[in-house]
Amino acid sequence: MSELIQSLYKKYEPFFAVGTCVSPRTLETHKELLVNHFNSLTSENHMKFGPIHPTPDTYDFTQADRMVAFAKEHSKLVRGHTLVWHNQNAPWVFQDEGGGFVGKDVLLKRMEEHINTVVSRYRGAVYCWDVVNEAVADSGPDVLRQKSPWLEIIGPEFIEKAFEYAHAADPDALLFYNDYNESQPDKRDKIYRLVRGLKEKGVPIHGIGLQAHWNIHWPSLDDIREAIEQYASLGLQLHITELDMSMFAFEDRRTDLAEPTAEMLEKQAERYEQVFALFREYAGVITNVTLWGAADDVTWLHNFPVRGRKNWPLLFDMQHKPKPALERIMRF
Ligand code: GLA
Repeated sequence: MSELIQSLYKKYEPFFAVGTCVSPRTLETHKELLVNHFNSLTSENHMKFGPIHPTPDTYDFTQADRMVAFAKEHSKLVRGHTLVWHNQNAPWVFQDEGGGFVGKDVLLKRMEEHINTVVSRYRGAVYCWDVVNEAVADSGPDVLRQKSPWLEIIGPEFIEKAFEYAHAADPDALLFYNDYNESQPDKRDKIYRLVRGLKEKGVPIHGIGLQAHWNIHWPSLDDIREAIEQYASLGLQLHITELDMSMFAFEDRRTDLAEPTAEMLEKQAERYEQVFALFREYAGVITNVTLWGAADDVTWLHNFPVRGRKNWPLLFDMQHKPKPALERIMRF
């Protein structure tokens, strides 16, 4: 049982915080794991634009407030996630009264009002924010993802504006740019160029979030190391923000497994052991490692990229018991 093994976050206290995402449900169903093993919490969905600001004049802070209160009660850090993203927005944000796109000035005002309201409310409680999420293109020559209403309406400066508004709302919060496929060399170079440009302009940015949605085959340790080195060369701190280790390569759409095989569990344990050893090497630069879920029963990967396919990407199993991967990252 989990209480018989040493606390994960206490073991890693000399290196970095260890977090997980949470939902209103897991604050209850996974309370024991959260309290014992993690010292940083990220709301999986309830600080995103759509859920927290559903109509122009209404904010719904109920679930975010609950999560922040839970964190306070149990002395956990809170990572704020996320202010500006192309997904999970309320439809009104980009629309004018006729249903067309609003103009640039209107959208900038909306963005400023939103960021100011949300960040001010959690000043002192949320220690860092993923200010802009996933603005970089996965492939092709463009640095920025073209299919984003923020980019289409405001232009590339939506990114720096978001950081400026967040900094004005809470000058003490650490501000992050967060993205996935962050260790893939082409995208890594684009993220690096984007963030270097922001730094050169004096934009208040303090860190890069490496989402780290990885699998047991990919990316290579060398690519992960290279990404850490390159981002760290900008003089910023790094957070691993959404770590999970899928049992399937991305292209693998097999659906025949009811349980992970012994080989999968072993390979996953080996990978977790390797990446945590690497994170420890860069402790000081890496200051938070957050898993995208407390246990295998609550992972978004049960529905992505194959709906309804079981996956087992985390450190605790479906019954909340420690997996081989957990045992291995505790052994050093
Ligand atoms: C992205 C987002 C997260 C979450 C995951 C999928 O990585 O940053 O908030 O939505 O996708 O669960």
